[in-house]
Amino acid sequence: MSDIVRYGIIGSGMMGHEHIRNLELIEGAEVVAVSDPFENSRWWAQQLVDRELQEYEDHRALLRKANVDAVVIASPNHTHRDVLADVFETDIHVLCEKPLCTTIEDARWVADRAANHHGVFWVGMEYRYMAPIARLLEEVRGGTIGRLRMLAIREHRYPFLPKVGDWNRFNENTGGTFVEKCCHFFDLMRLITNAEPLRVYASGAMDVNHLDERYDGRQPDILDNGFVTVDFEGGIRALLDLCMFAEASRNEQEIAATGDLGKVECFIPEATLVVGKREGRDITAETIDTDATVLAAGAHHGSTFVEHVSFRRAILDGTPAEVSAEDGLRAVAIGAAAEQSIATGQPVDLASIL
Ligand SMILES: NC(=O)c1ccc[n+]([C@@H]2O[C@H](COP(=O)([O-])OP(=O)(O)OC[C@H]3O[C@@H](n4cnc5c(N)ncnc54)[C@H](O)[C@@H]3O)[C@@H](O)[C@H]2O)c1
Repeated sequence: MSDIVRYGIIGSGMMGHEHIRNLELIEGAEVVAVSDPFENSRWWAQQLVDRELQEYEDHRALLRKANVDAVVIASPNHTHRDVLADVFETDIHVLCEKPLCTTIEDARWVADRAANHHGVFWVGMEYRYMAPIARLLEEVRGGTIGRLRMLAIREHRYPFLPKVGDWNRFNENTGGTFVEKCCHFFDLMRLITNAEPLRVYASGAMDVNHLDERYDGRQPDILDNGFVTVDFEGGIRALLDLCMFAEASRNEQEIAATGDLGKVECFIPEATLVVGKREGRDITAETIDTDATVLAAGAHHGSTFVEHVSFRRAILDGTPAEVSAEDGLRAVAIGAAAEQSIATGQPVDLASIL
């Protein structure tokens, strides 16, 4: 295989465009085709490159005709399983956007098949690749804070954006807010704790957003805030604090990992990393830089670029995906457990649903 990797983008809406913009920055990466049933989305994709893209309404035609090495799946969550079923008929490398699927059952179905897929199978978990988060992970792994005991992740942000066909207004299409949005944070919890979750307790609601919206007479059913506590192996406790009517926040993500020797925190988009050592109460803060062009290519603090550099390397070197289908499944499972706990008011043991 040459060093040029040819990509097809399946689903060229907001996130598909972010993938195209980032791939355009990588030497040896060439987006050659898009598939999307919505003409306007394909048109916008074409505006992002200075060559003619092959355009398909149906991803099956792209898989058959476009001669791509890899596809990026950025179609709505509830379409991932069916699109992947067709990709599994090929040897094409795949990066599938999060959440892997909307249900544990579908994610398990995909993970079982991904294990035998000949190409690289990678789940898009961009938050892992934000530079301040990557640095926090390094500090935790390097022992700066001693034995990790507590991990707190706060996302305080703006409401869900409008999407093509309003697919993200209903749980049946997204898997629910804690699957759709928060699978990123549950993935980070597994990564940072280096442990598996045992139990989830959650409380949440749709309190402020979407209350007056109607789609064909139906009111959205997506939650806009909640707290999720996750007990991990080894007695590590993790908390997610999600609020989606908090656009008046200085930072969108704040992560604090605390161990027996100290605490490390990061703040995004401020891009600061703060390390505090209990001994001597020594606290230092540092700015973690990301290239401005890369920052401008997407809405995820430069992470989509870093993810694609690594995905391309895995394709060329034949190395395993850094985010496997099993990782995608487990992130969906914690999100599904949170949704279940909110609906029932009861804690959920992961062993009972996985
Ligand atoms: N990693 C992240 O932080 C992040 C951020 C945003 C979205 N996403 C994920 O990306 C995916 C797309 O979200 P979006 O925000 O771009 O939504 P969007 O509505 O902006 O775009 C989705 C596009 O997919 C198209 N589509 C629908 N069915 C299709 C099919 N079968 N084949 C090909 N295209 C199809 C739609 O016409 C639309 O153009 C979702 O899975 C979402 O969860 C991830």
